[in-house]
Amino acid sequence: MRLRTLSGGAGEGVGQRRSTIYWGVEKTFYIETFGCQMNAHDSEKVIGTLEHEGYMRVQDEADAGLILYNTCSIRDKAEQKVFHRLNEYKRLQGEGKRFAVLGCVAQQEGEKIFEKAPYVSIVSGSASYRKLPEMLARLEAGEKRITGLDDRQTEETFDTEFTSRTNPHRGYITIVEGCDKFCAYCVVPYTRGKERSRASDSVMAEARRMADAGFTEIQLLGQNVNSYRDPSGKMTFAELLAAVGCVAGIRRVRFTTSHPRDFTREIVQAIDAVPTLCDHVHLPVQSGSTRVLAAMNREYTREWYLERIAWIKAARREISMTSDIIVGFPGETEAELEETATLLEEVKYDAVFCFKYSSRPNTPAMGMADSIAEEEKVRRLQVILDRQREVQRKGYARHLGQVMEVMVEGHNASRGQVVGRSSQNKTVNFTVKQPILPALGSYPMVRITETFPNSLVGEAVAG
Ligand code: 5AD
Ligand code: SF4
Repeated sequence: MRLRTLSGGAGEGVGQRRSTIYWGVEKTFYIETFGCQMNAHDSEKVIGTLEHEGYMRVQDEADAGLILYNTCSIRDKAEQKVFHRLNEYKRLQGEGKRFAVLGCVAQQEGEKIFEKAPYVSIVSGSASYRKLPEMLARLEAGEKRITGLDDRQTEETFDTEFTSRTNPHRGYITIVEGCDKFCAYCVVPYTRGKERSRASDSVMAEARRMADAGFTEIQLLGQNVNSYRDPSGKMTFAELLAAVGCVAGIRRVRFTTSHPRDFTREIVQAIDAVPTLCDHVHLPVQSGSTRVLAAMNREYTREWYLERIAWIKAARREISMTSDIIVGFPGETEAELEETATLLEEVKYDAVFCFKYSSRPNTPAMGMADSIAEEEKVRRLQVILDRQREVQRKGYARHLGQVMEVMVEGHNASRGQVVGRSSQNKTVNFTVKQPILPALGSYPMVRITETFPNSLVGEAVAG
């Protein structure tokens, strides 16, 4: 599981009271986030909304009056982890703290959370975050159990002008929420609700506000970003991409995650036409076997997928491709696993996120026997990772000697080393000759001098 913690790790300081908390007088909150970029960005919006409601964010849960836990349930035994974590928090409840469980586990487990953890005050899925100010007001008025669970059929999105972005250079904009695809293994349609898009005018206004605030990179987000349907009917997804890419001050635009069913030639044409659109497409295939794809309800075949890859490869610019893979889906044979491995070699992805199938509540695949043993899933995962590593070892070598623009993300000043990201989303570690290192968020040019399967090494070139 990709795990992201926006505010400091937990554990340290639990149970140690550092400052007096008067609920309702000093309104403080601590938030911890798990899961995907959508969750990370939802937390930025939740933080902004809470701050607008007069709450102050603290970095230690011991100092917080309200503790929020934004959860993920895409894989593994996420529910159990949440309850384990809540039991740790329980030790703090004597101090008058309030707890809120947000996100996918909240939506999935619903009011069962109150039964197992009676000290929790708010249980809310992401489709109900629009009502957060109202929920907070009820909490302050003394209500003990507040739920936001019934809004999954909503037409509305959670747009807020109060978003508190963690990175001052690169920021997310959610353009699609929810998902209507119903892949057999996936909880998202049940936890995040039906698919709804944000009007293009609202997206453009946020992009302009971000550019005015100094952001240079924008990442458009959606569980299914390219099935975007402008409610105002003004723009297609590719047109929106191009329009965001033309906002003055924006140097890079990314988008994730694309579904092959909704991938159009127009997207490739937009990338070719607008230089600020990054040369990278994340297009999860999940399996290289047409039979497994049908069982997964992905609604495409291996050949159909490869045709989209051919469009991308035919672009004037070299566009990097990455993917998600699930191994050990019910009934997957050794030969079908091999089909996935040969697909990696045929596409030549630059990165693959590979997961062991995990049975999820409410999903159609739950009714299929989870037939592949855990050790076998581990072995299959390793097969894919080994084959993909070889693809990347050869693939990354093509960059040797190239000069590319890199957005600076971090420094090690004492060693004169800098780390950044290329337009293709590759990690580039480089050195600079000048005594002053390039600023975070700047875009120096770097010559690549060495390549690895997961990163590039180089030196900044003058200019
Ligand atoms: N088991 C394993 N992997 C899953 N994913 C989604 N649901 C499951 C599941 N039940 C993976 C898919 C998806 C990525 C975000 O997580 O590969 O693209
Ligand atoms: Fe899940 Fe499939 Fe929707 Fe992606 S497209 S969020 S895998 S149901």
